[in-house]
Amino acid sequence: MKFFVDTAETDQIAELNALGMVDGVTTNPSLILKSGRDILEVTKEIAEMVDGPVSAEVVALNADEMIAEGRKLAAIAGNIAVKVPLTWDGLKACKVLSGEGHMVNVTLCFSANQALLAAKAGATFISPFIGRLDDINLDGMELIADIRTIYDNYGFETQILAASIRTVNHAFQAAHIGADVMTAPPAVIKKMAEHPLTDQGLKTFMADWEKTGQKIL
Ligand code: E4P
Repeated sequence: MKFFVDTAETDQIAELNALGMVDGVTTNPSLILKSGRDILEVTKEIAEMVDGPVSAEVVALNADEMIAEGRKLAAIAGNIAVKVPLTWDGLKACKVLSGEGHMVNVTLCFSANQALLAAKAGATFISPFIGRLDDINLDGMELIADIRTIYDNYGFETQILAASIRTVNHAFQAAHIGADVMTAPPAVIKKMAEHPLTDQGLKTFMADWEKTGQKIL
């Protein structure tokens, strides 16, 4: 499973990147706002830091403007994935931009039918939003499983990018179902290393080691 980091905070990307945990990065207008940075500037900086796809989202609502924005974002670096919303205009933009050879991440996907349309329009990535479905008491993981089945039924190459990951359980379930990629906030990725039995075991080992009176260094 590929790990994308869902942030525009470059220091956090750098920390995870040094550990080999970053296969790509996703941003959106809310994350750009949170970073306080200029979209073109921060996207360029991120694209230089990581080798994999860096998603940068268009903000226009009609296809022609989305395409123009997408071309401008894609010109920032060779590893930009243009993010377009899953609307009819977004699908039109996806078709044109992917036809020009750009990676396209179709975002704000909340149904398997939407995912099917995105694959038909040539999306590189489809981003089903797990957490936001859970927020309204629907099962985000069921959506990932449905899309996996449909894409496998027909051999679509669009990669399932599990997005809106909020918990370590989301990360586990998305991997278990077979999402190609997950994008998660840095804090969730770091939390995946935690287990209470690891902490407890380490505490015991440290206490016993102290009693030996030995040193390794
Ligand atoms: C990433 O591509 C999405 O924009 C992001 O995962 C959304 O996450 P949120 O629902 O926690 O804002």
